[in-house]
Amino acid sequence: MSERVRVMLTEEEVDRRIQEVADQINKDYEGKSLHLVCVLKGGVFFMCELAKRLTMSVSLDFMSVSSYGDDTKSSGIVRIVKDLDQPLAGKEVLVVEDIIDSGRTLSYLLQILKDRQPAAVKLCTLLDKPDRRVVDVKVDYCCFEIPDEFVVGYGLDYAQKYRNLPYIGVMEFDD
Ligand code: IMP
Ligand code: MG
Repeated sequence: MSERVRVMLTEEEVDRRIQEVADQINKDYEGKSLHLVCVLKGGVFFMCELAKRLTMSVSLDFMSVSSYGDDTKSSGIVRIVKDLDQPLAGKEVLVVEDIIDSGRTLSYLLQILKDRQPAAVKLCTLLDKPDRRVVDVKVDYCCFEIPDEFVVGYGLDYAQKYRNLPYIGVMEFDD
């Protein structure tokens, strides 16, 4: 079986849209400090591109989680593989994610973060697949809503490959 990647969103389209979302975040948080929490590994490319375009005072931290359950269906019970280095108390937190699918992982993670008494927690995602949602999650900033297709690139992987593609592509298989 061979696999290939069909372009869904070009590098230019993605970069242009990240700038638009960054402009909105700059307006919404004007005069405040913003603490970005990146969910590894998928969120890292998006977080860097977004952070470069933010004009307020920004700090960054990283978290790695793994979901119990099989590969195709996340259970929603999240194990923290790498926790944040810094406390969240009193901070304006923006969680930066690659994609929201069922919403199970994020809804659990957001609860963990809210328990740490930040001033507020909002969610920013590069991609959203609303058709797949099982658990309701409030998405504050979304670059693109996409159909239910398995995508790679810009941080997203298929079996740990393709994260480095500068565009978003759909995985295609033929035998
Ligand atoms: P969920 O929202 O708990 O179902 O899980 C979301 C996670 O599943 C994301 O953070 C990705 O790691 C992974 N995921 C979901 N859809 C895709 C996709 O199309 N490509 C790559 N990873 C995906
Ligand atoms: Mg992710």
